[in-house]
Amino acid sequence: MTERVASATAVLVCQGRATADGRYAVDRFSDPVARMLLDEAERLVVDLVRAGPVPAEAATRMAFEMVRRVGLTMVPRTVAIDDAIRVHGAAQIVILGAGLDARAWRMTELSRATVFEVDHLASQRDKARRVGDLVPTAERVVPVAVDLAIERLGPALEGAGFAPQAVTTWVWEGVVPYLTRKQVRSTLAQVAELSATGSRLVVNYQMASSVTRVMRAVMRLVLRVSRQSDPLAGEPWRSLWRPDRMRGLLGENGFAVTSDSDLLTLATGLSLPAENNGSLRNGRVAVAVRD
Ligand SMILES: C[S@@+](CC[C@H](N)C(=O)[O-])C[C@H]1O[C@@H](n2cnc3c(N)ncnc32)[C@H](O)[C@@H]1O
Repeated sequence: MTERVASATAVLVCQGRATADGRYAVDRFSDPVARMLLDEAERLVVDLVRAGPVPAEAATRMAFEMVRRVGLTMVPRTVAIDDAIRVHGAAQIVILGAGLDARAWRMTELSRATVFEVDHLASQRDKARRVGDLVPTAERVVPVAVDLAIERLGPALEGAGFAPQAVTTWVWEGVVPYLTRKQVRSTLAQVAELSATGSRLVVNYQMASSVTRVMRAVMRLVLRVSRQSDPLAGEPWRSLWRPDRMRGLLGENGFAVTSDSDLLTLATGLSLPAENNGSLRNGRVAVAVRD
């Protein structure tokens, strides 16, 4: 296990969900726990975004814009993944790169499920501190420290009580871009080995987009120049995938894709302002079943 600092992008997406909770798609999206997982300083920008007016000062405005846009992206992504988990109804869930995912503390549908949360040790320690004595809605939450880039999933999961013969829902949200293609291939091969027939994999991945690349570069430059902390600094994107390639890779590993939609399509019918459409077009959620 490589020791490292806790993930900053996990905090960023948690801030996004905290900005969106109770404001957008209220009949479909809800994450009241996200705010509880944030430190006081991390809540400041969330409160600014929720309050509305765009700050005049450039530096504050950039942090504001980043969190606001992430919030808009989180809504369709979360709704699609929550729906897939509910529909499958498995009693064993594995969340790969769980970060500050709050499903095990907010989804009452998991009351009979064991949720294994896989992440770097540093991110897990940080999460344990943030969670404190919050009571899970899942029957059991089991942290499993694995660095997907260099460690084997199977021994760690099985050592933590994971049952490979049981049907599993795997959630792989917001993690694929941070792994190289080789690491994605290797992780998927391990997931396949550990998946009983009928298991589902819900994978969120990112397509290449020059607009997104330029936007991220500009945001990061402004943050650096204005000496604000940059949540993207330590976690570069390492792999972006075309849908046909992702489908092919899933197929090679015995996972048949049952749906694969971009976030803009998944946002249809959700009450969201139509202003983050570029980013929504490039993020996707695929659901695949192990045959
Ligand atoms: C953007 S966050 C997403 C967190 C969570 N899935 C969500 O959507 O809220 C990326 C997460 O992937 C984890 N991650 C990135 N590379 C990883 C690796 N090699 N092994 C385990 N976890 C990793 C990070 O620690 C972080 O928690």
